[in-house]
Amino acid sequence: MGKDVIIALDFPNAEETYAFLDKFTGRKPFVKIGMELFYAEGPEIVKKIKARGHKIFLDLKLHDIPNTVKGGMQSLRDLGVDMTNVHAAGGVKMMQAAVEGLTREDGTRPLLIAVTQLTSTSQETMTNELLIDHPIEDVVVQYAENAKAAGLDGVVCSPLEAGKIHTEVGAGFLTVTPGIRFAGDAKGDQSRVTTPEKAREIGSDYIVIGRSITKAVDPVAAYERAMQDFVG
Ligand code: C5P
Repeated sequence: MGKDVIIALDFPNAEETYAFLDKFTGRKPFVKIGMELFYAEGPEIVKKIKARGHKIFLDLKLHDIPNTVKGGMQSLRDLGVDMTNVHAAGGVKMMQAAVEGLTREDGTRPLLIAVTQLTSTSQETMTNELLIDHPIEDVVVQYAENAKAAGLDGVVCSPLEAGKIHTEVGAGFLTVTPGIRFAGDAKGDQSRVTTPEKAREIGSDYIVIGRSITKAVDPVAAYERAMQDFVG
């Protein structure tokens, strides 16, 4: 795997999701199932989309005490997803417990990545609300180091931070980057955003795109544009 565009299926139900996926005749994009769809439809939606031939990033961002996260991951590990995640803010022990829970009896497991700081979080929010008194880039790199120490495969981060993570944490440590907009699109609630071309230049491994594809007049054309700009 590597260098792919992941579409965020942020839909409220299965009907809208299938109506969207049916537009992609002959194409099977890598997709992300987040909490909106998963909470509405449960694990069945994951199995059904997998059966349609898509790779799946299950984006539930687990964050709890280590024992609970381990149990949560045990419940997810046989769903057939390709990638899933936790919040790095839960700490190294929690992330190690996530790896343990996700690992199947035969020793295999889906890719496990950690959210560093949400791409909607600005420096101002971190400093004034969360009282984290460091530059956001340093916090992101530290969280990435923690994720690597815990045995994870990579991080979710802003594309603007992907280069620094590859330099400081390791070239093979995956960077999965939401906060992607085509030039001229609205930022919405995202704060640290960039374009697919720029994300490619900086070296993101995967870009995650939601609204710039799902709300486009022609979602398939928007997806093809993102693939062209990011993968080439
Ligand atoms: O619509 P948009 O392209 O902003 O969607 C981005 C997707 O990536 C959403 O599903 C959001 O939950 C997810 N995400 C994010 N920032 C993170 C982790 C995940 O925006 N740090």
